Amino acid sequence: MTFITVKTYEELSRKAANLIAAQVVMKPDCVLGLATGSSPLGTYANLAKLCEAGDVDFSAVTSVNLDEYVGLTGDNEQSYRYFMDHNLFAHINIRPEATYVPSGVSADPVEEGRQYDALIESLGGIDLQLLGIGLDGHIGFNEPDDCFTKETHPVELDESTIEANARFFASRDEVPRQAVTMGMGAIMGARKVLLIANGAAKKDILEKAFYGPITPQVPASILQLHPDVTVIFSEN
Ligand code: GLP
Repeated sequence: MTFITVKTYEELSRKAANLIAAQVVMKPDCVLGLATGSSPLGTYANLAKLCEAGDVDFSAVTSVNLDEYVGLTGDNEQSYRYFMDHNLFAHINIRPEATYVPSGVSADPVEEGRQYDALIESLGGIDLQLLGIGLDGHIGFNEPDDCFTKETHPVELDESTIEANARFFASRDEVPRQAVTMGMGAIMGARKVLLIANGAAKKDILEKAFYGPITPQVPASILQLHPDVTVIFSEN
């Protein structure tokens, strides 16, 4: 694991964008695993700049997102599909049909998960997976649990996650209680993992996840077993 500590969110965002851009330059038809939350916003803004400057070309890239809220369609402003379209895809030259986000409105979320995993497998797996980390150690929406779940699957969100994500909604009551998330199989199968975290509030959970015991109670701790993880942490 490579653990990089930087001073500012701007520096984190530039470094993360440069690592993703390098991946695309080295393998133009790569599969990027993408994340939502506030942490990647700066990274995505920098990728848009690099694309606009002609330094990186996303035209052959495919993307697969980690997760989606159950009950939200892609045109809902709180959905992760909407987030990706507006914060990244609209600003780079990726083909819209090559961007995948799990459906939050599937009648059969378990089957939806199977199909999502089959899709990732058919793409040859993920070349680089970008991750944030929740205050409880969740990655994607893999919440603390008694076991790690391999497949893309529906989950009940923890109260702390609902609380943390309420800032994106008009009120706490509007935060969906469930989500669909990529499981640990696809995440751990990614050839490279890049986890970004900013702010002093994330320091404790990063220490637990990367220097504590490997346990499903701290889902990100499974990344200690991954052969190629880069963590970028900014204190501010
Ligand atoms: C959500 C997402 C995660 C993300 C987490 C942290 O719960 N499902 O993928 O890592 O938020 O968000 P933030 O980056 O806003 O702290």
